[in-house]
Amino acid sequence: MDKLIVQGGGPLEGRIRVSGAKNAALPILMACLLAEGKVELGNVPRLRDIHTSLKLLEILGCKTSFDGNDVTSDAVALVPEAPYELVKTMRASVLCLGPLLARLREARVALPGGCAIGARPVDLHLKGLEKMGAKFELAEGYINGTCNGGLKGAHITFDFPTVGGTENLLMAASLAEGESILENAAREPEVEDLANFLNAMGAKITGQGTSVIRVEGVKSLKGCSYRVMPDRIEAGTYMCAAAITDGELLIEDCPYQELDAVSYKLREMGVWLEETDEGVLVRRDGPLVGTDVTTQPHPGFPTDMQAQFMVVMCMASGAGTIEEKIFENRFMHVQELARLGADIRLKGRTAMVRGGKPLFGAPVMASDLRASASLVIAGLAAEGKTEISRIYHLDRGYENIEAKLSGVGATIWREKE
Ligand code: EPZ
Repeated sequence: MDKLIVQGGGPLEGRIRVSGAKNAALPILMACLLAEGKVELGNVPRLRDIHTSLKLLEILGCKTSFDGNDVTSDAVALVPEAPYELVKTMRASVLCLGPLLARLREARVALPGGCAIGARPVDLHLKGLEKMGAKFELAEGYINGTCNGGLKGAHITFDFPTVGGTENLLMAASLAEGESILENAAREPEVEDLANFLNAMGAKITGQGTSVIRVEGVKSLKGCSYRVMPDRIEAGTYMCAAAITDGELLIEDCPYQELDAVSYKLREMGVWLEETDEGVLVRRDGPLVGTDVTTQPHPGFPTDMQAQFMVVMCMASGAGTIEEKIFENRFMHVQELARLGADIRLKGRTAMVRGGKPLFGAPVMASDLRASASLVIAGLAAEGKTEISRIYHLDRGYENIEAKLSGVGATIWREKE
């Protein structure tokens, strides 16, 4: 396994280009199963989860290619089974359920296990698909789904605005007979990007980005060309990096409009941000002051920015609280940050951060994707050397992170563990 070494201190200066969004590319790749014909995707980030998704598409009967950041996929002869060996490495594989039911009227998808940050059930996905006529049986760790008469449009209200549940239902409803209405739907920009991709293939979706999405089912969807949106969480991560080191970053291809809640909080702490026609300029504007954050479904503060933002709060004078309302166990980075000298108290799903204490480099361990990103940022701010092990977590969501950070002055490199 690899480890990442970060030599702290020193300003970050220069330009960082944001890659395509992992959480848009993953559902869009599963939606390729719906197309009769070849799909061409641009701006696809080279990440572990993308390679895993392409492997899954091949197992399900697609011919795929991945050259640079360009992907092609052609669903030539689909088969209905997504095996456990693959699904257990990437929960987002469950997003093939809707497309397989829509195309083949059957699906056998391994039940995705939990992961470090929580149980992550898929009950809302199944409940919505059942309202569209699917029948499910859970046996030997697999979801066995059928819909003999084909999927029918339905009026579905989610108990919770689930991102994956909204995406699975959007894909299923696109080829269902009749109209579907999804209420209390997720409003995340990546859900909107999926809907726009489906419409590019000939789907009839309106309301994406709001909590009520309407889908008029069509008979078939065709291949198309589409560019995946830039990654707002990657962009937000680099904004936090700019905030905790002196210097100024220009973040190129930054989906700034999708980061209102994050930029609002960064400004509140004393970070300066300015949108220019070349990208978003970010730098610390005097001493940072503490603030309070609660993670919410979009357009609230994103849970995927919680760990990274906690490091900015560690560097601020005064205290601040972070309440994690989306996942039940998303504070594994706290103990690792404490090893670097951070003063953070946990009480249930709220972390009290007492900022203003210097951080000192130490060996730490990544536990999940965004926790590993927060450790990289902390390493940049800490005095001395930080060694981050198990960085395969990081490689799931950040394309070329050490090259991008070295390019703006960070001292960061990868070593074999
Ligand atoms: C997506 O996960 C993202 N992953 C996550 O990003 C992100 O944190 C999450 O949305 C919230 O924004 C991808 O897009 C691949 P949810 P997803 O369904 O779809 C509960 C990252 O770091 N729930 O909105 O799994 C669930 O347990 C990853 O890039 C049910 O109870 O998120 C959780 O507490 C991590 N039943 C909450 O809802 C269900 O059927 C949010 O889940 C579905 C979800």
